[in-house]
Amino acid sequence: MKTVSLNKYVDTVVILDQTQLPGKETYLYLTTPEDVWEAIYHLKVRGAPAIGIAAAYGIYACIQQVKTSSYPVFLEEFQKIKNYLATSRPTAVNLTAALDRMEKVVVSNPQKNIPEIKQLLRMEADAIREEDAIACRQIGKNGLSLLRSGMGILTHCNAGHLAVSEYGTALAPIYLGEEKGYGFKVFADETRPLLQGARLTMYELQKAGVDVTLICDNMASSVMQKGWVQAVLVGCDRIAVNGDVANKIGTSGVAILAKYYGIPFYVLGPTTTIDYSCPNGKSIAIEERKAEEVTEMWYTHRMAPTDSKVFNPSFDVTSHTLITAIITEKGIIYPPFEIGLRKIYS
Ligand code: MRU
Repeated sequence: MKTVSLNKYVDTVVILDQTQLPGKETYLYLTTPEDVWEAIYHLKVRGAPAIGIAAAYGIYACIQQVKTSSYPVFLEEFQKIKNYLATSRPTAVNLTAALDRMEKVVVSNPQKNIPEIKQLLRMEADAIREEDAIACRQIGKNGLSLLRSGMGILTHCNAGHLAVSEYGTALAPIYLGEEKGYGFKVFADETRPLLQGARLTMYELQKAGVDVTLICDNMASSVMQKGWVQAVLVGCDRIAVNGDVANKIGTSGVAILAKYYGIPFYVLGPTTTIDYSCPNGKSIAIEERKAEEVTEMWYTHRMAPTDSKVFNPSFDVTSHTLITAIITEKGIIYPPFEIGLRKIYS
């Protein structure tokens, strides 16, 4: 099961349509900038690293249709597609980071001919995917070093295989632990309003044979109070230099609960998710999505009066003061986060 890949014979991005899960495993084939933009915006491909990989393969696939031997024309067309794809979702830094990385290939090779640049772009997109897979495996190992057999683990949203290249970030230690017989008991928050926990985390952990129990978001306190949770593992969409973290809406509430109950709260993510230009959580743009996701999506009939005023932020910022550690492929960072995050950069 591949979340996002490139069909190299026809230069088409292939994604597993996550909006159809868990009911149907449908693969979509994306060739135009509009296809890729729409797939990212509608969360057919989602999760910070997966969005970055989709954008990298996406821009590679789309630029194949530009038939020119002129470098300035090629660069202009490339940047048009890049700027358009960058508007699909604002919060996950991986999207713009991957697009910037692809652009650098074009900008730094003006002496090469267009077929050669296209070849380099494909290699760069492959590298973005491969580096993510390696990072996720290492995050799994680093994360597992903090966990013990039989622990109860709560997770929010989906930061598993579906959200990345392979393994996941927050779910990587769980997969690795499962392989080693740790026997974790996982609680998956359903994650209103788009139900990434209920639809995706349940789907992939069940499929892997993990002991996983679905709870509504408002039940997290209850399972913590009962002593069933010994660690919280979540992913991230953007890490600011002071250690504030943007992740799926509801994450900050879980962090506050974990602090109250004295449960370690771990954020897991690749170093590609650190935004060194972002000093703190206040500078992170939070995506707001359509009201219908709250009022009627997933219901057989609408659940809120028509014309209800709705606030639907897709992410929230968890203060660094609530985070026990940030687990990356390059190591585990403890407070004060700014020092550890800068050390990783250097
Ligand atoms: O809106 P989504 O489903 O893309 O949000 C995803 C998350 O918030 C994940 O936790 C995050 O991207 C980390 S994925 C490894």
